This record gives sequence, structure tokens and C-alpha cells, in this order.
Amino acid sequence: MAERPNYMSPEDFRGAGHRAVDWVAGYHERIEEFPVLSEVAPGWVRSQLPAEPPEQGEDFADVLADLDRIVVPGLTHWQAPGFFGYFPANASGPAALGDLVSSGLGAVGLLWLTSPAVAELEQHMLDWLVSALELPERYRGNGVIQNSASSATLCAALAARERAGGIDALAELVAYTSEQAHSSVVKGLRIIGIPAERVRAIATTPDFAMRADHLAYEIVKDRSDGLTPFFVAATVGTTSTTAIDPVAEVGWVANNFEAWMHVDAAFAGSAAVCPEMRWLNDGLDTADSYVFNPHKWLLTNFDCSALYLADPRHLINAMSITPEYLRNEASDSGEVVDYRDWEIPLGRRFRALKLWFVMRHYGLEGLRSHIRRHVAWAAELTDWVAADDRFELVTPTVVSLVCFRHIDGDDATQRVLDAVNQSGQAFLTHTNLDDKLVIRVAIGSPQTERHHVEELWNLVQSAA
Ligand SMILES: Cc1ncc(COP(=O)(O)O)c(C=O)c1O
Repeated sequence: MAERPNYMSPEDFRGAGHRAVDWVAGYHERIEEFPVLSEVAPGWVRSQLPAEPPEQGEDFADVLADLDRIVVPGLTHWQAPGFFGYFPANASGPAALGDLVSSGLGAVGLLWLTSPAVAELEQHMLDWLVSALELPERYRGNGVIQNSASSATLCAALAARERAGGIDALAELVAYTSEQAHSSVVKGLRIIGIPAERVRAIATTPDFAMRADHLAYEIVKDRSDGLTPFFVAATVGTTSTTAIDPVAEVGWVANNFEAWMHVDAAFAGSAAVCPEMRWLNDGLDTADSYVFNPHKWLLTNFDCSALYLADPRHLINAMSITPEYLRNEASDSGEVVDYRDWEIPLGRRFRALKLWFVMRHYGLEGLRSHIRRHVAWAAELTDWVAADDRFELVTPTVVSLVCFRHIDGDDATQRVLDAVNQSGQAFLTHTNLDDKLVIRVAIGSPQTERHHVEELWNLVQSAA
């Protein structure tokens, strides 16, 4: 008979857990001491780890010590106040605690039956978000948490394929998105069997928003070639510049040609929690599906992507396979939601807990202030850039992403970028627009204060 392993008892968990929470709190207290961008060389982290796993269990204190020694130097500090790269990935105390509780409960919500609370709290939190963001009422009761916007868009494309005739129709299906859409759109389409040659990259305006007239033109052309336009993906807040596609017009075209209308608002969508930003939802009543990421800008730790479907039956039909071992009375009754049919994995974590904790801790007022601070600082930074004749703004600032470049060209822009990133105080990423290098400053971390934006601007100016 094998020996009983050293299972961590509830009492030991309590002690170790307190130390782990302490460690995380300490990390946040010290976060400004670390260079924002990790400075380790490739392979350094692995070189610090034993080649083989330990034969005997170790002390939890030793594990925690190795976090400081090995993990922290190998981190790019996404939660640092000087992190202005990509888009933010908000972490917050209440959300981290929600994840902790979720892990501690260890419930796997494949079916309603396997934990009614996992299913119903998720339904309810997504309904709370419909109210909080004033999303179309037809999304109420029809939301699901996905791990990422990429998965959500893939699911939307799959549902669209199902509505358009499923696999049998595959060879004729054509999809449309703007040339500024996130790569996840093409990726999701590729995975469901639509090759890049049948994904039309619709031209954009000088502000990088999709041209609805070009969309209509391409759809008409494809139809006359005997193809079936089945999926249109618009973006509210593109990755490069937060350009806003004209969703109402794009949706009108998609609806009229019976193509599925999907809207990707991964980053910018959260801002609709503020009434003055609700224009971001304009045209959403045309959308068959909509995704935004509370894990980007709504104080909810990764992963938490909210996907809404006007009619989830197409996704469920595409996903649902019910072997005998998953059959149960509650599912057969049709009165419950089995989220296994709303995404690719069967098992799922209790992610609604962190949304619940976040909304109860901050209230909608807190969430609005969070967004408003960043929007206001982005507007200020935009003014500072506009007033400095060494730089030029590349696009209007829509929410909290500021895009600019050096007027002397790419080498000068790259010099500024490198100087900021090598300073260790801040981290910026870039994009390329009209064949020119562009600096992106994405403001959205809960740790960032106005003075951090000022310090970033000083760094930029001194590198100019
Ligand atoms: C507009 C847009 N869509 C999709 C994504 C992908 O998000 P995720 O990492 O949740 O898949 C991003 C990421 O930044 C994005 O900006």
C-alpha cells in the first residue's frame, strides 16, 4: 500500500496561504523597484531551475524564496505603473481573491449539475455587465465567459458557420474584417476552415476605421462569384490605434446580406461602463455576437473575456455532443445552461467569482472612476504631444491610447522607444501605420497615477 502523501492540510494551507498572500501584497508594494521590462537573457530562468523535479517534497518557504530569486527577475511587470505597452491586463485585489477562492473550491463547471453556482453566477454576472455597460437587451441571459477574445471570436465564427450551413457549406464561405482587425480574427477563421484567401481585409479610412462602402462592394462581388458571405468582424478599438469601425453601417451591410455580425471590443468595450462613453456601443443592436475583455481594463485579472450572442443556439448546435456519461435530468429539462456547449473545453473554472468580487468591491462608480482617470490622462498626454513640434500625433485619441511618432522618421522614433524601454521606468510598444513606426502609449493600469504619465512624457522628451 502506497504511503499517504503529505497532503496539505487545511491548517497548513491557512499558514502557507497567508504567507503567499503576504508575498503577493509585498510584490505590489515593491513593484516600482523593478525594471518594467524583464532584463534576463533567454534561457536564464531555466538555468536557475534544477534539471529534475525534487524526489522529496520541499518546504513552502523555500518555494516562496525562489519566487524572489528566479521568477521576479524573469517577469515583465504588467502591473507596474510604468507599463504602457500593448493594452493593459488589469489585476486587482478583489479579482485575485476571486481567483484564489475559485482555485480553493476546485469546482469544475462543465454542466449546470456539476456546480449550479458556477453556471448561475456566470449567467448573472454577464447580465450585470449588460446593465453596467447598457448593452443590447437581447444579450441578457446569453453571455459566457471565455478565456480570451481570440477564443470568443473563434466561437462566434463557428456559430456563424453553423448558421450558414455548417461544414457542408465550407468551400463557399467568405469572411470580412478590416485590414486593422486583430490577428485573432484571421486565426479563428483559419481554425474553423476558412483560409486566408477567403478572408477579405476591408480597406480603412485615414483614421483606420473600416469602410462600410468597401465592405458592401466586396460582398456584392463575392455573391456574384457564387460565394457565400457568412461572417463580418468589426472592431471597436483596434489594437494599433483604437480606431472605431462604424458598427451601425457595417452591421447594416452584414444584416442585409445575411452575414453574421461580430463585434470585437476587446479593450475599448469596458469604457462603456461610463455613460459618456456609451457611444462605443452604437450599432451593437446589429451584432449577432459581441466580445469585450474585463481582463484588459475592468480590474478583473486575466482570464475573463465576456462573449454575448444574440441567439446562442447556433453555437450550442455547433458545439454540442452528448455522450451517455454527461446525460442528466437537469440538462434534459432544458431549464439550465450547460456552458460546456458554449466554448471549446469541457471543464471550466469558476471565473464568475472574480467578476462578482470586483463589481461588489468597486461598485459601478468605482469602475467608472477607474476608466475616467485613464481617459483624462490620455487626453492630457495627447495635448502635450500636440504642443511639442518634435512629435506628431498619428490618430485622434479615442479612449486611452495615444499614438505618435518623431517627425524625423523611424530611426528617431525607434531611439525614443529604446531609450524609454531601457530606462526600466516605463515600457512602451509600437505599431506600424502607413509604413511608418508609431509609438503607442496605452494608459490603463490601476497602479498608474498622473505623475507616472508625466514622468513617461519627460522620458520621451529627453530622448527626443
Ligand atoms: C482588438 C483586439 N482583439 C482581440 C485581442 C486578443 O485578445 P485576447 O488576448 O483576449 O485573445 C486583442 C488583444 O490585445 C485586441 O486588441
